Amino acid sequence: MAAHRSPRRSTATHDSPRRFRATGAFNLPCPKGRILQIDIQTLAPADQYRLLSSTVVPRPIALITSYSQRTGHNAAPFSFFNVMGEAPPVLAIGLEDKRGSGDLKDTTINIKETGEFVVHLVDEGLAAAMNVCAIAFPPEVNEVEQAGLTLVPSAKVRPRRIAQAPVAFECRKIAMLEINPHRHITLGEVLCMHVREGLFDAEMRYIDPNKYHPIGRMFGRLYTQTRQHFEMEVPEYEAWLAGKAEG
Ligand SMILES: Cc1cc2nc3c(=O)[nH]c(=O)nc-3n(C[C@H](O)[C@H](O)[C@H](O)COP(=O)(O)O)c2cc1C
Repeated sequence: MAAHRSPRRSTATHDSPRRFRATGAFNLPCPKGRILQIDIQTLAPADQYRLLSSTVVPRPIALITSYSQRTGHNAAPFSFFNVMGEAPPVLAIGLEDKRGSGDLKDTTINIKETGEFVVHLVDEGLAAAMNVCAIAFPPEVNEVEQAGLTLVPSAKVRPRRIAQAPVAFECRKIAMLEINPHRHITLGEVLCMHVREGLFDAEMRYIDPNKYHPIGRMFGRLYTQTRQHFEMEVPEYEAWLAGKAEG
């Protein structure tokens, strides 16, 4: 089963965005249908993948550059990816093998060998180039060039970084876990961060969500934008009690 195939009918709602209101509580509908219990461990790996990757969405996309003395620079996208903590700042990436062949992906081999990589977050402007980087080019073809991306020197690691990316994290491998012969999970410590001018809000000490537009992966070829926001503040216990009492 081709696990990366996308659903036949698109459920994309990009053209008909819904506005969420920031005020008041959402009404929790009482489920009317039956709840299906899925014994996920008995499913074929490809079906486990389809269920997990279509459920845990949207996922941010790490466009990773790595370097090998033999083959030079490599760039590839990974959506099994997230931030795991700070002090030290840690990212995690899930690396599958090359489907069908059992061989490790170039990114996995390079990180294993050199212990260094750069994670770039993918925004709307970088989406098409990221997609080109996922093509299974023959080894002699440079995907970075094909994608029209520019590599510039990193500050603390050997792999270069992509100049067009909104954010880049220079990383050193902390650990690589082999979950099974086809799956590795890499933990990387962030040594240095690069942010496109205008995205960093020095007063708030964060990346401005109104200026930063990363895309998220839904399933297969389906992506989402992140331009619609809504706010929910966690109330103090006393305020919550008072609100309940008022009805
Ligand atoms: C948006 C997107 C997300 C992807 N996420 C993953 C992932 O999390 N893990 C993985 O092993 N492959 C993932 N892939 C597939 C790899 O990018 C693809 O196999 C790539 O060719 C690997 O390149 P490499 O051999 O140069 O490392 C993803 C592809 C796309 C387009």
